[in-house]
Amino acid sequence: MSDTRQATVPPTRQAGSRKVFIKTYGCQMNVYDSQRMGDALAKGGYVATEAMEEADLVLLNTCHIREKAAEKIYSELGRIRRLKADRALAGKGTQVAVAGCVAQAEGEEIIARAPVVDLVIGPQTYHRLPQALSRVDRGERVVETDHAVEDKFAHLPEASRREIRARGVTAFLTVQEGCDKFCTFCVVPYTRGAEASRPLARIVDEAKQLADAGVREVTLLGQNVNAWHGEDAAGRPIGLGALLFALAEIPGLDRLRYTTSHPRDMDDALIAAHRDLDALMPYLHLPVQAGSDRILKAMNRRHTAADYLRLVERIRAARPDIALSGDFIVGFPGEDDADFEATMQLVEAVGYASAFSFKYSPRPGTPGADMTGHVGEAVKGERLARLQDLLRRQQQGFSESLVGRRLDVLVEKPGRHAGQVVGRSPYLQPVVMPQSAGSVGDVVSVAIAASLANSLIAEGAMPAASPAFQPAGLVA
Ligand code: 5AD
Ligand code: SF4
Repeated sequence: MSDTRQATVPPTRQAGSRKVFIKTYGCQMNVYDSQRMGDALAKGGYVATEAMEEADLVLLNTCHIREKAAEKIYSELGRIRRLKADRALAGKGTQVAVAGCVAQAEGEEIIARAPVVDLVIGPQTYHRLPQALSRVDRGERVVETDHAVEDKFAHLPEASRREIRARGVTAFLTVQEGCDKFCTFCVVPYTRGAEASRPLARIVDEAKQLADAGVREVTLLGQNVNAWHGEDAAGRPIGLGALLFALAEIPGLDRLRYTTSHPRDMDDALIAAHRDLDALMPYLHLPVQAGSDRILKAMNRRHTAADYLRLVERIRAARPDIALSGDFIVGFPGEDDADFEATMQLVEAVGYASAFSFKYSPRPGTPGADMTGHVGEAVKGERLARLQDLLRRQQQGFSESLVGRRLDVLVEKPGRHAGQVVGRSPYLQPVVMPQSAGSVGDVVSVAIAASLANSLIAEGAMPAASPAFQPAGLVA
């Protein structure tokens, strides 16, 4: 999962006395967690605000995946400290909570380093948020970072039909959390703990509720989503493929996606789901991280470049129109020029429709941080630029290949310009369409007239009489 996203999440809009501002950093799992925390706070009488200075409670849901992501939190807390002081002058109290992976990783350290913080709460204990806030009300500074044994989602209140619908026609649904893979660069096994799957019945119930409220597309989330495992009604062990088959039965759920996957967990049943399920979108985020076997081994990925290429071949044989996306890290300790060239070759061989790529960032407590052979920043920067240039060309080439074709698009919302609507292609690209194409929630077939850097334009969306039209501003 990428950590490019920063979003404010309005939990709900009901009458109540206290206002909460939630800011989300990091991956889609944090977006989902913020919604669930928002639902819990709404039940406790909190009303969402999108203005931090109005908030009685400021909640930062944080990301620890790379150093920059974690450091952002401390600069944000500096800003919040000033805001809290201003509000105090006006006689208003402000509670400050830090949730998410920085909270889990740095717990007490946050309390020590940032006196403005009242509550630090890790991702495994969000169901204890209301009690923790009551303790804050009593003047305590609280750190809640246990790895709770109970399923937090089973203890968090669900959103109402109205709240779900207000979030749109697409939704995230966390099915699995944590990771046992221990890639040597990654903090996730330490911040999110051991792999844990939610039971089939709970997932199916939640998906039914989403569909019933008007959600048309569900993205199943997990740090290692294809490691999901459960039992069918007869008690037989099943994996993500079977879960997808079960979800595809739910009336109204037109589209299914899942992210993010590990190559080692792409089993036959999951590949069969790509072959057999129309609802499963032909787009797969399958990170490989590097193309050199030496580096893959040092990263503890437990597969080779050839294994990955063979897997891609099998997936493409099952679903020829599938588009692939990936994550890459350049400058892992010990990566030399030849290793990096192997990554470039692998990218050339696969051909990605989209990708995220990063400079290696040593994370305290991970084995990679203690390895020898750290790569200099300048070299990392050069490699990243070359890789991103190649990936950008591939992404552009893929988008251009869609011009002149018809694609099914889920209409998600009105466009920025009057007379337009915006949706997503099967490959997750935003598509700008004329309003006549369909209403929000419809899956419509449109002809693609043009491709831009980050979106596609459907026929009829471009006002012919307006040469000054700037479609780049329409990205969803
Ligand atoms: N440095 C750089 N990138 C990292 N990622 C995870 N840990 C690190 C790190 N220490 C990247 C991986 C992963 C994505 C979510 O973030 O590519 O797939
Ligand atoms: Fe991190 Fe590797 Fe687990 Fe993905 S599979 S969350 S990269 S340890």
